[in-house]
Amino acid sequence: MAQATFHFPHGFLWGTATAAHQVEGNNTNNNWYAWEQEPGRIIQGHKSGLACDWWNGRWREDFQRAAEGAQTAHRLSVEWSRIQPTPDRWDEEALDRYLEMIRGLVELNITPMVTLHHFTEPLWLAEIGGWENEAAVEYFEKFVRKVVQTLKDYVNLWCTLNEPNGYVTQGVVLGIFPPGKKDIRLAFPFICNLVKAHAAAYHAIHSIQPQARVGMAIYYRSLRPAKPWLPLDHLIVNLQDKMFNDSFPRAAKDGVVRFLTFKRRIPEAKGTQDFLGVNYYTRDYVTFNLLRPQELFSRRYFRPGAELSTTGFIANEPLGMFEALKWGLNYRVPMYVTENGVEDADDHLRPRYLAEHIHQMWRAVNFNWPIKGYFHWSLIDNFEWERGWTQRFGLWELDVETQARHKRPSADLYADICRENGLSADMVARYAPDVFSILFPN
Ligand code: FCB
Repeated sequence: MAQATFHFPHGFLWGTATAAHQVEGNNTNNNWYAWEQEPGRIIQGHKSGLACDWWNGRWREDFQRAAEGAQTAHRLSVEWSRIQPTPDRWDEEALDRYLEMIRGLVELNITPMVTLHHFTEPLWLAEIGGWENEAAVEYFEKFVRKVVQTLKDYVNLWCTLNEPNGYVTQGVVLGIFPPGKKDIRLAFPFICNLVKAHAAAYHAIHSIQPQARVGMAIYYRSLRPAKPWLPLDHLIVNLQDKMFNDSFPRAAKDGVVRFLTFKRRIPEAKGTQDFLGVNYYTRDYVTFNLLRPQELFSRRYFRPGAELSTTGFIANEPLGMFEALKWGLNYRVPMYVTENGVEDADDHLRPRYLAEHIHQMWRAVNFNWPIKGYFHWSLIDNFEWERGWTQRFGLWELDVETQARHKRPSADLYADICRENGLSADMVARYAPDVFSILFPN
């Protein structure tokens, strides 16, 4: 049997990612809580409820699990509505609690990456129009200043916005996230305000903490023409690729927002990306379809025969990981894989998915592309937005009723990877034998 190890550079960060609303529990003052109360919004009427109960302190045991699993980094988010429950008030107790959590990570030698906006907004902000209202930009900047002042001694890596491209698609174009708009014409003003918010946060963080590293996490969707011989399929793929994948990081690179035929200069956004966060999960095949104007004249589907996750949400397409990192090179900054993972309650697919995606990331690293770390989504099962509790992304399984945690085999595989700073033939033989001959061909 082949004996090789795909090693990563010294100091490469290995972690997991979570988000406040998905793990904390009892987050009742934000737009997602309100959304959960509306009938029909969340699959089977699920609610975030107590989530993983981190706000009551269970973060301690979960961070311990991460540390025992040899993780060296954790990406988490702070909940704006807890820190600023009303526009005129900071909740110092909430800030203290975040400080305690972050210190808890640092004490375990886990490097924190803090996300400042991960899909949720305080109710008071939603009530004045959220990101449709340009006033949100200034509110966000003030919030960011407050958080950074509080956490700066422990946090050097900041992610301003999580998947602003996903947020606009789900919340403004498709209407399945709050604010629940279904109007592509509204996307542009939302994008512009989010880019301004990112830029304001970037400058604010650097004014407080010059050495900080600041970026965004972009949802990179690998898009392929379904019929490679059909020019129209290429055209539609290029268009969607620019709109979805590029609009935010491009604006942060050159200070110009482009979306469909719209274009606006936001000069303060130019050069506001110390790193690019890449969230990669899956790939779509796209074909031109005149009958689907609402989906930009296209139909998208997974590759026939691709292995699918439990609810069919993700196809296992590891080559898309390599493609995502190649795409990221365009922005000429260091990269982190800020999310990657699969919903797989039985842990049948995850070990394979993990091994194959890390192998593709290793290929990219071997071209000397500047990839600095990897955050697996997620440490533990958590509340998956409009998909509720039907999707299980955790290395650890959560029993939502009892709060009991159970380790999935993938947690052991990931711990071995973190410990070794690499993926060995032995690990693949043990945890993902089905892909051994793909990763280690004779
Ligand atoms: C990403 C989100 C994250 C989680 C994963 C599965 O799009 O950023 O919160 O829901 O998907």
